[in-house]
Amino acid sequence: MYQTLLTTLADNIYIITINRPDKLNALNTTVIDELGSAIDEIYNNQEIKSAVLTGAGAKAFVAGADISGFSGLTKEQGMALAKKGQDIFFKIERSAKPIVAAVNGFALGGGCELAMACHFRICSDNAQFGQPEVNLGLLPGYGGTQRLTQLIGKGRSLEMLMSGNMLNAANALQYGLVNAVVSQEELLNKAKSILSVINSKAPLAIAKCIECANAAGQPNDEGYALEIKSFGDCFGTEDMKEGVAAFMEKRKPVFKSR
Ligand code: COA
Repeated sequence: MYQTLLTTLADNIYIITINRPDKLNALNTTVIDELGSAIDEIYNNQEIKSAVLTGAGAKAFVAGADISGFSGLTKEQGMALAKKGQDIFFKIERSAKPIVAAVNGFALGGGCELAMACHFRICSDNAQFGQPEVNLGLLPGYGGTQRLTQLIGKGRSLEMLMSGNMLNAANALQYGLVNAVVSQEELLNKAKSILSVINSKAPLAIAKCIECANAAGQPNDEGYALEIKSFGDCFGTEDMKEGVAAFMEKRKPVFKSR
């Protein structure tokens, strides 16, 4: 179905594998377009409760935007490229269903930005994170200056952005860029086991957790106001009534996303 992605759906978990291992899964326009379609699938397919993004091969998650497409671009074309990538990465970040990055090697440039647009990240012990765009006379264009700063703080972010230095898995864990480090063999199972727990919870409440967390840091306490509204909205759901009833009756809840 896709030229540059492999997808599977089992146990309500959709796995998207970026599949250009000979180019370290670099994001060319086909990958970006196909990623957009695969994210639409997450939004629209009722069988999908959550998703994992990973890269094919043993070496890379994604080694960046495809540099071979950069030469000869004008200012305007550069802006259009960044805008298109940002729009798709926003779609990942704003998905009502959790999307986790399973980083299995290099996550550089647009690859690090892609991982950061996901709701959280786990990685294998050979992972390397970096924003090496300064080596090309560039800076990140797919949201990296913003999300890296939010995730690891301004000082650490600016050091990475300005030096182009890579972070290994242990340092990424220490910085809070990833939630867990496992072996490459264990990586997908680790992602699936975290998501199977999340998939057993009330989907409407999960969606609101994502929406409110995305609103953190907005001015004028807007995130707090959204939390109040979301909390109230949950009282109008069947799932909240089921969750509370199940607790009182000492049984497992059965959520229906209603
Ligand atoms: N865009 C296009 N092609 C890329 C790429 C990218 N971002 N990253 C890797 N590739 C290609 C290489 O050109 C090479 O292709 P070739 O075999 O046709 O020559 C292939 O992937 C393998 O990469 P190679 O550089 O030979 O692997 P390595 O193990 O020696 O080095 C990296 C790995 C990740 C350190 C190195 O590939 C690299 O620095 N990549 C660019 C990272 C970057 O700057 N990303 C930000 C882009 S904005």
